Amino acid sequence: MEKSKAKQRIEKLKKEINRHRYLYHVLDKQEISDAALDSLKKELFDLEKEYPKFITPDSPTKRVGGRALERFKKVKHEEPMLSLNDVFDNKEFTSWVERIKKLTPGESHNFYSEVKMDGLAVSLIYEKGIFIRGATRGDGVTGEDVTENLKTIEAIPLTLAIDKLTKEQRQKALQKVEVRGEVYMRKDVFEKLNQKQKKKGEKEFANPRNAAAGSIRQLNPKIAANRRLNFFAYDLKTDLDQKTHQESHQLAQKMGFPVNPYSQYARTPEEVIKYHQEIGRKRDKFAYWTDGVVVNVNSINLFRKLGRVGKSPRGSLAFKYPAEQATTTVEDIQVQIGRTGALTPVAYLKPVNVAGSTVSRATLHNLDEIMRLEVKIGDTVIVQKAGDIIPEVVKVLKRMRTGQEKEFQMPKECSVCQSPVTRKSGEVAYYCSNKKCFATQREGIYHFVSKKAFDIEGLGPKIIDQLLVTDLIKNPADIFTLKKEDLELLKRFAEKSADNTIKAIENSKIISFPRFIYSLGIRHVGEETAYLLAEHFGDLEKLMRTNEEEFQQVHEIGEVMARSIVQFFSEKEKIELINNLIKNGVKIYFEKLKINKSLQSLKFVLTGSLKTLTRDDAKSRIRKFGGDISSAVNKETDYLVVGEKSGSKHEKAKKLGIKTINEKEFLSLIK
Ligand code: IVH
Repeated sequence: MEKSKAKQRIEKLKKEINRHRYLYHVLDKQEISDAALDSLKKELFDLEKEYPKFITPDSPTKRVGGRALERFKKVKHEEPMLSLNDVFDNKEFTSWVERIKKLTPGESHNFYSEVKMDGLAVSLIYEKGIFIRGATRGDGVTGEDVTENLKTIEAIPLTLAIDKLTKEQRQKALQKVEVRGEVYMRKDVFEKLNQKQKKKGEKEFANPRNAAAGSIRQLNPKIAANRRLNFFAYDLKTDLDQKTHQESHQLAQKMGFPVNPYSQYARTPEEVIKYHQEIGRKRDKFAYWTDGVVVNVNSINLFRKLGRVGKSPRGSLAFKYPAEQATTTVEDIQVQIGRTGALTPVAYLKPVNVAGSTVSRATLHNLDEIMRLEVKIGDTVIVQKAGDIIPEVVKVLKRMRTGQEKEFQMPKECSVCQSPVTRKSGEVAYYCSNKKCFATQREGIYHFVSKKAFDIEGLGPKIIDQLLVTDLIKNPADIFTLKKEDLELLKRFAEKSADNTIKAIENSKIISFPRFIYSLGIRHVGEETAYLLAEHFGDLEKLMRTNEEEFQQVHEIGEVMARSIVQFFSEKEKIELINNLIKNGVKIYFEKLKINKSLQSLKFVLTGSLKTLTRDDAKSRIRKFGGDISSAVNKETDYLVVGEKSGSKHEKAKKLGIKTINEKEFLSLIK
């Protein structure tokens, strides 16, 4: 074929293939058979092979998956990707409506509701109408660049369809467009995938969400391409003059994105409730998994005005369906002592699958709950799991009893320190009366070093237990006085790992304010509340001085939480702990420091070994300050950090004229 003819044919094929993609994924119509469409794709593929210079990044053949990556690049979201607060019944839903009405009086409140697909959230960026970057949610602020994998999903357009937009919209859309939505795996695809995994002797996925997330986070796009993922758009972040969330959906659809057809406008909360019930009846028959609906305030203006609380927008929420349930038997009931000293009875169950994961333990909360349920050891029970919440026992099937069941007794003494167990007036929980109980302290330290707190790698429960038993530490502040030699004395520590752990401890000392609050382990203060407190008070001194009434002024902080925080800061040992943490070198950084992205978008490559930092620590420092890391030196590299015994990368950098810095210079950048 002549060159110009080939070019023309390629263009025509691309257009036609894209039209069928649109018909199939967006409009749910199929004009030609799969085999016919495959045949068009094959012709395009062959032509492109013959004339590679006519291949464009938006060609449908690019969906097969390119070269495997070494790791994903980090991408900072232009606007954070938030999460949603959940409600589980009509009453909770109605109080949300009341709350937002109170916050925005005089406004008219209409809603747009949609199905909540169970997959993973992604952000898609188009420039000049072409898909250039897609990212996962990550921690909400920074996600991972998974563009190549997303390109393999047919439901995601590689080029925006702009012909149905107005002239003004077209102009804006051609600059930049961001669409957000859910990548998901259909139930039937999931089942087949698991059958295949089983046959190959590979691990099966627990549920379609894990399978979708696992596929998107494959470094090899060819694997993602084989996983047959799907996509629904649920938000258009770019302002194309839309005034409502409903219009965002319509515009996304016009531009070629599939949107869930069950979305619905509702004038009143009652209509939303009706919609929720209707979807509840239908959802089993859906091709994908859903555990609820998302309700949005329809007006975009109002949505903005409502702002957010913690990591969730006030103007949207997830209206969930009752959790999935299963039945099993209680093999034992044992007491666990938490970091607050509370004794929590836990049911040890015969393992059972609930909503895709195996459950072998369930919380019974407290003695009152055991009495309410009338649960005994040996009983057959219904357990349920809702989202990430710890599984719980909801009902005993008394007709299943044999007479062999045994009653549970709350122990009179703490099983760890043998101190008496007491019940505080007005509280349902039983406590170990010894404030210095080994179990309480140990749990407190586990919490302190955990991922969402100081995140100290290498200090697992077994090590902490040894440190406590050998008196090397008594409380979290002592961790920062540990020396390499102390650790080397313990079992499990070779010289190298002792070294790494000491470095990890050192690196954890610089900590954000929300993490610091969370790590203190204040009763009732979880990650979200810690974030809220940090945002509201902005400074530790202020937080420590605030009284109960003032705490209650903060929206979302109730009486119990306020009392617990004030109680915490009134205890002498707690103040001592905070002072000792600071004395031992812990530095809290506040919002201002957090946005110190002094290395924003700079690309680093590391070579040779550093004296004061491990590779991972160096990398995490670079990321903390907004920089990127790659493994190979090329024209894009901004800095090559040169340690001892550096090799060919150093040579290459010299050749390309890339700036090289030594360890000392590097340390001064990440101070
Ligand atoms: S709106 C603030 N709409 O549910 C987040 N989310 O916790 C706005 N999801 O991360 C999301 N279907 O992955 C929205 N129709 C839908 C959704 C949906 C699924 C997921 C999404 C998000 C999570 C909310």
